[in-house]
Amino acid sequence: MVTVKTVSDLQVAISMWRQAGESIAFVPTMGNLHAGHLQLVHVAKTKADRVVVSIFVNPSQFGVGEDFASYPRSEQEDQDKLKAVGADLVFLPPVAEMYAPNAQTMVSVTGISSHYCGASRPGHFNGVATVVCKLFNMVQPTVAVFGLKDFQQITVIQAMVRDLNMPVQIIGVDTVREASGLAMSSRNSYLSAAEKAIAPLLYQSLNIARDAVLIENLPYAAIEQQALVFLQRAGFQPEYFSICRSSDLKPAAQSDTDLVVLVAARLGKTRLIDNISFFKEPAMNHG
Ligand code: PAJ
Repeated sequence: MVTVKTVSDLQVAISMWRQAGESIAFVPTMGNLHAGHLQLVHVAKTKADRVVVSIFVNPSQFGVGEDFASYPRSEQEDQDKLKAVGADLVFLPPVAEMYAPNAQTMVSVTGISSHYCGASRPGHFNGVATVVCKLFNMVQPTVAVFGLKDFQQITVIQAMVRDLNMPVQIIGVDTVREASGLAMSSRNSYLSAAEKAIAPLLYQSLNIARDAVLIENLPYAAIEQQALVFLQRAGFQPEYFSICRSSDLKPAAQSDTDLVVLVAARLGKTRLIDNISFFKEPAMNHG
């Protein structure tokens, strides 16, 4: 496995693979890698001849007062883990390599970027779309692999790829969880022991909501309201809890069949997100 820090070194490696007729799968990350990230690399290995992983804590997707400076960085351990799972190349650029001081262009996926996480983190998805677009242009992958844990993020990326005719296939990978059900996240390291005991209730709230949709068929507004109360009582400060259509993340109607429930909540100073997606049988017409 090679590690490169500049775009020109990245392109030398890639052009050699291209000349040999090899395809590239790409896994963008911000590092501090856990089993969820490594699962993306496993899937990437099944999709192409070579796997490129980027580690870049992207300043443009962090808002003022967010955790850019304190975001956990563990570059050496990350490279060891990536070598062990068989990645071919790690791209580890410094900020100055990614953003020229005179940069004037941004990618903005309108509409979807302003709801849910976009509402609580203004500008976040512009930062994500811009850096992912730049990385795609640098790596020129055939496929790129993203986690379904960040459901809104992959929906934004899919819209960008569709709208800008980017020649890359986006693949989503199921969320990897702790035994407790807590979705793995680089930010879980911020949780105290007491918070870690409460954190799995976030996933539990999603499972309860799914059962309320599938078994009880309650009105969605009532399910969302109950979930917010459940999370508040458990000690979270919920940001949103929304039952959506998985295709475009619009609020779901009772008749929609492909659903995703999105949640974001703070636990102490840590912001956690999670989701659960499922299929609801269309209602039988007894007429
Ligand atoms: P990061 O949070 O490091 O996540 C990198 C990738 O790992 C994303 O596609 C994310 O959805 C996936 N991932 C995280 N936790 C996961 C889990 N428990 N199971 C499965 N996949 C998981 O997401 C970002 O970085 C950045 O926004 C990025 C796309 C790199 C752009 O800067």
